[in-house]
Amino acid sequence: MSFPKGFLWGGATAANQYEGGWNEGGKGPSTADMLTNGTHTTPRKITRTWEDGLYYPNHIASDFYHHYKEDIALMGEMGFKVFRMSIAWSRIFPKGIEEEPNEEGLRFYDEVFDELHKQGIEPLVTISHYESPFYLTEKYNGWASRELVDLYVKYCNVIFNRYKDKVKYWLTFNEINCGTMPLGGYLGLGILNEGTTDFMNQKDDPQLRFQGLHHQFIASAKAVKLGHEINPDFKIGCMIAFMTSYPYSCNPKDVLKCQKEMQMGNYYCGDVQVRGEYPYFAKQYWKENNIQIQMEEGDEALLKEGKVDFYSFSYYMTNCVSTDPNLEGIGGNLIGGVKNPYLKASDWGWQIDPDGLRYTLNELYARYQVPLMVVENGLGAFDKLEEGNKVHDSYRIDYLREHIKCMEEAIEDGVDLIGYTPWGCIDLVSASTGEMGKRYGFVYVDSDDYGNGSFNRYKKDSFTWYKKVIASNGENLE
Ligand code: BG6
Repeated sequence: MSFPKGFLWGGATAANQYEGGWNEGGKGPSTADMLTNGTHTTPRKITRTWEDGLYYPNHIASDFYHHYKEDIALMGEMGFKVFRMSIAWSRIFPKGIEEEPNEEGLRFYDEVFDELHKQGIEPLVTISHYESPFYLTEKYNGWASRELVDLYVKYCNVIFNRYKDKVKYWLTFNEINCGTMPLGGYLGLGILNEGTTDFMNQKDDPQLRFQGLHHQFIASAKAVKLGHEINPDFKIGCMIAFMTSYPYSCNPKDVLKCQKEMQMGNYYCGDVQVRGEYPYFAKQYWKENNIQIQMEEGDEALLKEGKVDFYSFSYYMTNCVSTDPNLEGIGGNLIGGVKNPYLKASDWGWQIDPDGLRYTLNELYARYQVPLMVVENGLGAFDKLEEGNKVHDSYRIDYLREHIKCMEEAIEDGVDLIGYTPWGCIDLVSASTGEMGKRYGFVYVDSDDYGNGSFNRYKKDSFTWYKKVIASNGENLE
């Protein structure tokens, strides 16, 4: 038996892509509510107000807001030990600046957590998953302003106190390292610079982005300290989009280029949040990119005091890095890269690499020596609803099975892996494209890319398979 007793099997979602009810129960608009739909080839748009004739898929999403009892019952039936979800900040503070929280919003999550506990499921809550109140973007240009630190800590204070006996596991920011890339400007930091209309091609200001990231690091450290004061049993983690890159060849120039990409893309943020200080290579990067980080007195000490308890990450794919500009490129989560001739890719061009997960787990554990959790993994695919409301998703089972085997091998290698929550366990809206048709779930949600459908839930073949995996603690993968 490789998976330890008490291993946290479950699934993951995020409010902005799953919850819907975007203007119900006193919720304010969030940054995600301003995103139109797109496709693999047509980028989403960011609009400052809702424009006629455009569709905003996060508004309804999977309508968990009205289906939570049914959905949580399905999770219970699969045997989930943990459910990763996020709280919509603008459901608690509609504009982000109010003195008092929105009681109706707080009550909604009370009901969700109670329902989870009825099913014996532990919530794992992302405090900010790719959304913040849109008002904060309008007023402060999002995390570019240090004002957001206190507003975020106020929000944390409210939810930590309210749910201190219902929630033990917290993540401060989803994929915080997206802020090291231009795409993360709006997605993770709520920064909307003059002239930006296209989600995939934002007007980028690295100075604002890296300063914004510093504000998030400070906010995260403050939240960790505060959370531990409120309940010393809280386990508070970071969450990184881990995008493993391999040198395309053994040409030392490729190896060096790859090392640099790994440092800034993957390690920069984790190092701050786990080790409590900026890594040595940060200074050179700032210098080369003309970035001046404004630090206040006490910031360095704070980063040290607010180190996270565990490291969580998403893992979907890997890419190659090369100095040769003529090689064929390929897409990926947040960034693309050079195509790897040994790997196959999903319909969205994300290369499937289970061995890379074992490699990544070993690299991460060697670096940080704190418990690890894989809080996103999975295959986005077109599913077909067949007669009798069946979905035969053997491709998804294959993907997950191979990744679970590699996690098991990593545990045998000695890695302290404590949980696994595959992404979009119940179908939800894609973050990159806004499509409903890019599905990850064990449960099919009957809605199309425009929110047409009954929103009925149907179990896919992977549902029964995953239930057996959990019941056997990862032994039965057939
Ligand atoms: C991660 C995000 O980057 O990948 C999720 O944390 C996202 O929010 C997931 O949905 C899958 O990406 P996509 O673009 O297929 O939805």
